[in-house]
Amino acid sequence: MYKEEGTITTPRFQKEDKNFENILRPLKMKDFVGQEKVKEKLDIFIRAARKRGDSLDHTLLYGPPGLGKTTLAHIIAHEMGKNIYSTSGSAIDRPGDLAKILTNTQLNNGDILFIDEIHRLHPQVEEVLYSAMEDFKVDIILGKGASTRSVKIPLPRFTLVGATTRAGLLTSPLRNRFGVINHLDFYNEEELFSIVLRSSQILGIKIKEEGAREIAKRSRGTPRIANRILRRVRDYAQIKGRGIITEDIAKRALAILEIDEKGLDPMDRKILEAILYKFGGGPVGIKTLAMAVNEEPDTIEEVYEPYLIREGFINRTPRGRVATYLLYEYLKQPPPSSLQQTLPF
Ligand SMILES: Nc1ncnc2c1ncn2[C@@H]1O[C@H](COP(=O)(O)OP(=O)(O)O)[C@@H](O)[C@H]1O
Ligand SMILES: [Mg+2]
Repeated sequence: MYKEEGTITTPRFQKEDKNFENILRPLKMKDFVGQEKVKEKLDIFIRAARKRGDSLDHTLLYGPPGLGKTTLAHIIAHEMGKNIYSTSGSAIDRPGDLAKILTNTQLNNGDILFIDEIHRLHPQVEEVLYSAMEDFKVDIILGKGASTRSVKIPLPRFTLVGATTRAGLLTSPLRNRFGVINHLDFYNEEELFSIVLRSSQILGIKIKEEGAREIAKRSRGTPRIANRILRRVRDYAQIKGRGIITEDIAKRALAILEIDEKGLDPMDRKILEAILYKFGGGPVGIKTLAMAVNEEPDTIEEVYEPYLIREGFINRTPRGRVATYLLYEYLKQPPPSSLQQTLPF
């Protein structure tokens, strides 16, 4: 019933990643690079809970894929000195399934129940979670037909850690039951640089600082992508170089991977080009855009768009996505005068 990892739904995340991910996953808070505010908060709450001999408050982690939500859930369990049991919102179909998980798992006080993709829970399943989170009780339905009765089963004081790429899709009753809410943001180049060096060391990859920097720069602010690129560049270095990742090797490998100077990949460019060339700079609705680039609307919203927005290539408006001045510049097109006028200088 339990899965070690959340279900991976988008083509960016292939099976191969999973094995490496487990090897490369930091186990302790001190090895988790970046996200300083999140770490500081969690560190205080974890220490306070331990001091009181209490369980940690229910914790929600949200942010784009590959930024360390699953990793942090495991770190929380490790720092609390407790066990973690993992499942995914998409794996729980009926309220009874969740009730079973809650009662059959050998949960002890303080243990972590990790629900990945928690926004995928059905509303009826969510309701089971409310009383489990709030009162540490779960209703079990016994019998059939006329003899149906419900029994309240007490649960240990567990900690629910939920992860989601789409906090906006959580219902507010569910969101309100989390005592701690943490948003993970994209990593800066320096942080990715140390992640690449750390991963190289673990995997025994020979890499020059400039090579690591080049990979860090082009990883879309995302550790998972940095680790994946690192492995591909290592392959390239083995075959085309002397097994050492230099700046030159990294640049040549990234060219073959079609990852450009800005770290954008072919799908990113397809999306940007569609907005500009097919839809005249927008606004264009997410469904129309998804159809134009032959991708799922959810994937665009969860995986691609956050980084394109954060880098300032597109904006989200109530009427749809629109091109920014930067996007015209990136695709070497003259921006319309309306965009030029809004520049602050
Ligand atoms: N802050 C970090 N420091 C070091 N490595 C990280 C960090 N965040 C993520 N990673 C690496 O990236 C991979 C993906 O992280 P994961 O926790 O699975 O992301 P998410 O659950 O948010 O999709 C992990 O295997 C881990 O190796
Ligand atoms: Mg995850």
